Amino acid sequence: MGFITPNSQIFLMFGNGWIANQMKDILLAQGKNVIMSKARIESREQVLSELTKHKPTRVINAAGTRGTPNADWCEDHKVETVRSNVLGALNVVDVCYQLGIHVTHIGSACIYALSEEEIKHHPPFKETDEPFFQGSWYNRSRLLSELSIRHYPNLLLLRIRLPISADLHKNSHIGRLLKYEKIVDLTGSGTVLPNLLPGALILSENGEKGIYNFVTPGQISNVEIMELAKKYIRPDLKWQTFGLKDMFNTLRAPRANCVMDATKLQKKLGEYGYQIKDRREALEEVFQIMAEKGL
Ligand SMILES: NC(=O)c1ccc[n+]([C@@H]2O[C@H](COP(=O)([O-])OP(=O)(O)OC[C@H]3O[C@@H](n4cnc5c(N)ncnc54)[C@H](OP(=O)(O)O)[C@@H]3O)[C@@H](O)[C@H]2O)c1
Repeated sequence: MGFITPNSQIFLMFGNGWIANQMKDILLAQGKNVIMSKARIESREQVLSELTKHKPTRVINAAGTRGTPNADWCEDHKVETVRSNVLGALNVVDVCYQLGIHVTHIGSACIYALSEEEIKHHPPFKETDEPFFQGSWYNRSRLLSELSIRHYPNLLLLRIRLPISADLHKNSHIGRLLKYEKIVDLTGSGTVLPNLLPGALILSENGEKGIYNFVTPGQISNVEIMELAKKYIRPDLKWQTFGLKDMFNTLRAPRANCVMDATKLQKKLGEYGYQIKDRREALEEVFQIMAEKGL
């Protein structure tokens, strides 16, 4: 499926999911050329065929497996997970490399993790800190993919975490939290998409390379999200909290609890005149949009 407008840059998008479609909508609103690929990314033949057919100047890989209904799915689908998140990721970057095309890969920050106690004292993780967390098969696939692709010179790797949109989509951290009566009382990094995704496209368009913690500056608290939801969209909202250990008891595999340093991202986007919002401002904005939509 293609949406072509007169413009020099041609974006080819792998993945037709939640984040890919938000990026597509931003590009279309900007009058950019976007082609949504239906290729399976683990297939070298399909990826190569798409790139030679459409001749994109920019590739975005937002394809990958997150596990449905959650990352525990990956524990029972190890091969499928590796084919999408490791082989597929490497394949897209490698074919683009061979053809001299810049590629933006939507990766994950869940390759670091600390205990509840450690997180209080540990400085936020920088891009230069070696990633290590492989507590679940999903995390392991993300770690393996980053280690495999990170040295390619044509790559922009954006590590997202707990993505948040201005709606109640099932993938959004807000949408997920509002489904539960008990939430885990935790703070960590989150990616407020409406404010950050335009920045991803600025970086891609300008051919920026390397790894970025693609997170909103500051620590996002689950309780703060619930309080904002009560303030803006659910005046009767009630919830209980429980600890990380209790949450882990309900899951098959551990999850990554981490805070990421957004300084590099902030500085780079600032060079293009794009100021990213800090946690409170970005969250208030998404809830205001939701209230306006009557959600
Ligand atoms: N949402 C999160 O919490 C989160 C957090 C960190 C990172 N990420 C990563 O960000 C990316 C986008 O996430 P999302 O929330 O937009 O997920 P999504 O809505 O599930 O979209 C993922 C898309 O990738 C496609 N896909 C999966 N494996 C593929 C393959 N081998 N070849 C081609 N397409 C494939 C899926 O299509 P099919 O269903 O047809 O396979 C789907 O269209 C994923 O890689 C995800 O792991 C997400």
